[in-house]
Amino acid sequence: MKQITDILQLKELTSQYRSEGRSIGFVPTMGFLHEGHLTLVEKARQENDIVVMSIFVNPAQFGPGEDYEAYPRDLNRDAKLAEQAGADLLFTPSATDMYKGAQNVAVHVKRRTDVLCGRSRTGHFDGVATVLTKFFNLIKPNRAYFGLKDAQQAAVVDGLIEDFFMDIELVAVDTVREEDGLAKSSRNVNLSAAERKEAPMIYKALQKGAELIRDGERNPEEVVKAVTGIIENTSGVIDYVELYAYPELTPIETLNGKIILACAVQFSKARLIDNIIIDIDEWERS
Ligand code: PAJ
Repeated sequence: MKQITDILQLKELTSQYRSEGRSIGFVPTMGFLHEGHLTLVEKARQENDIVVMSIFVNPAQFGPGEDYEAYPRDLNRDAKLAEQAGADLLFTPSATDMYKGAQNVAVHVKRRTDVLCGRSRTGHFDGVATVLTKFFNLIKPNRAYFGLKDAQQAAVVDGLIEDFFMDIELVAVDTVREEDGLAKSSRNVNLSAAERKEAPMIYKALQKGAELIRDGERNPEEVVKAVTGIIENTSGVIDYVELYAYPELTPIETLNGKIILACAVQFSKARLIDNIIIDIDEWERS
């Protein structure tokens, strides 16, 4: 695996791969890798000739008072894991190189951001879309891999690729979980021992919501109420429990089609998010 920090070198290498007719799979991350990230790399490995992974804690997507400084970092460990999982090229640029000089243009996301995490994290998805536009232009991948753990992010990227006519296939990968159901996250290390014990309740609550829908509940409010009731038994503070059409992230009065049931819960030093995506029509057919 090659590890590079230089933008020019990245452009040269990736254009060489392209000229040799090799397909490129791209896995963008902020590092502190866990099995969730590595599953994306493994999938990219299966589907492409070359796998490029980026590790970059992107300042533009953190709001004031969010955890940019405290975001966990361990590049040496990450490089070993990325290589083992099958990455060919690890790109770890500096923030000053990625945002050289005064920035002339930033990407503004107009839809799919007024709900879920977008509502409380003003500008977050603009920062994500801006950095991904930079990465996509540098790497020009055939496919880009995103986890459904961050389903709103995947929906935003879907819109970015479509609206800007990018020749990139978005590959969305299911959430990888701990054995007790907790979604793997770099932020889980910030949970106290007691909070770590309670945290799996979040997924249990979402599963209960899915079960209600499977049993025929079609009123979103009833589902949200049941999920909220379960999460309230933890010491975490609920930021939201919401239900929308997916990937449009528009409200629905009577549940049908593809929907997302998602929540965010704030613990003392970690904000956890999780979701379940359900294709109700498919359930009804089976
Ligand atoms: P990061 O939080 O490091 O996540 C990188 C990728 O890993 C994202 O696509 C995310 O959805 C995926 N991922 C994280 N936990 C996962 C899990 N438990 N199961 C499956 N996939 C999981 O998301 C970002 O970084 C940034 O916003 C980024 C896209 C890199 C832009 O800066």
